[in-house]
Amino acid sequence: MNQVTHSALVTGAAGGIGAAVAKAFSQRGVRVLLVDRNESVVQTAKTLPGASARVVDLSIEKEVLDLARYARGEFGGCDILVNNAGINPKREGRGYRTEEIDMEVWNAVMQVNLAAPFLLCRELLPAMRERGWGRVINIASRAGRTYIPGVSAFYSVSKAGLVGMTRQLAGEFAASGITVNCVAPGPVDTPLSLQSSKETLAKSAANVASARRGTAEEIAAAVDFLATPAAGFICGACIDANGGGFMG
Ligand SMILES: NC(=O)c1ccc[n+]([C@@H]2O[C@H](COP(=O)([O-])OP(=O)(O)OC[C@H]3O[C@@H](n4cnc5c(N)ncnc54)[C@H](O)[C@@H]3O)[C@@H](O)[C@H]2O)c1
Repeated sequence: MNQVTHSALVTGAAGGIGAAVAKAFSQRGVRVLLVDRNESVVQTAKTLPGASARVVDLSIEKEVLDLARYARGEFGGCDILVNNAGINPKREGRGYRTEEIDMEVWNAVMQVNLAAPFLLCRELLPAMRERGWGRVINIASRAGRTYIPGVSAFYSVSKAGLVGMTRQLAGEFAASGITVNCVAPGPVDTPLSLQSSKETLAKSAANVASARRGTAEEIAAAVDFLATPAAGFICGACIDANGGGFMG
C-alpha cells in the first residue's frame, strides 16, 4: 500500500492533539477530514494541504451517522480513523467527586468519549475490511490505565472502556489487514487540560517521571506511526505516551 494515498478522519481536530494529528498526517500526504463541533476546525483545515473539514456534534447519534455516510461516500472513503474528540467536564477547575456525578454529566461524557468512537468504528470498519487495509487509533488516557487522584470517575471509566473496545475490535478485524490500537496520553498542554486550575496542572507535571507536561505533537507522533503501513503488526496495543506517569 506504499504508493496509495490514504484518507483519514480525525475527530476533535480543532483541539490540541487532534489538530497536531491532522497536521502530521497532512505533512506525509494523507488526505484528512478534520471533524469538530467547534467551527474553528474549518480554519484549521485551510492551513493543511489536501485537508477539509466538517462541523459535527458527536454527542448526537444522527450527526455521527451522517458523518460516517459522508466519509464513506462524498469524501471518497476513509481508511484511517482517529477517535480523538473527548470531554472531561470540571467543577471549579477540579474533577467531580463521585457523589457529585449525576446521570446527565455521566451520559454526556459516555456519548462523546465512548459511544461516538464505537459508532464510527461500526460504520467505517466494514468498508476498510472490503478494501483489506485500515487503521483505527483511539485516544484514551492514562486515567483509563491506572488510578489518578482527582480524576472524575466518568472520565476514567470512559477511557478504560475505550481501551477495552480497542482490544475487542482489534481481535475481530485483525485478519482483514486492519489494526485497531490506542494511544493513552498523560498530561499534555491543550485547551482541554487548561480547564484545570494552575494548582492541578502543577501537580500533574510533578506526578510524571519526566517532571513535565507533554506536547500535542509528542502524542501526534505516536498516532501518526500507528497509522502507517510500517505499524501493521501492532494490533490491540495501547501506547502509553505519558512521560513515565504510568509504566504498564
Ligand atoms: N490534554 C491532556 O492532558 C489529555 C490527557 C489524556 C487524554 N487526553 C485525550 O486526548 C483527546 C484530545 O484532547 P485535547 O487535550 O486535544 O483536548 P481539546 O479540548 O484541545 O480538544 C478536544 C476537541 O474535541 C472537540 N469535541 C468535544 N466534544 C465534541 C463533540 N460533542 N463533537 C465534536 N467535537 C467535540 C472539542 O471541540 C475540541 O476541539 C481527548 O480524547 C482527551 O480525553 C488529553
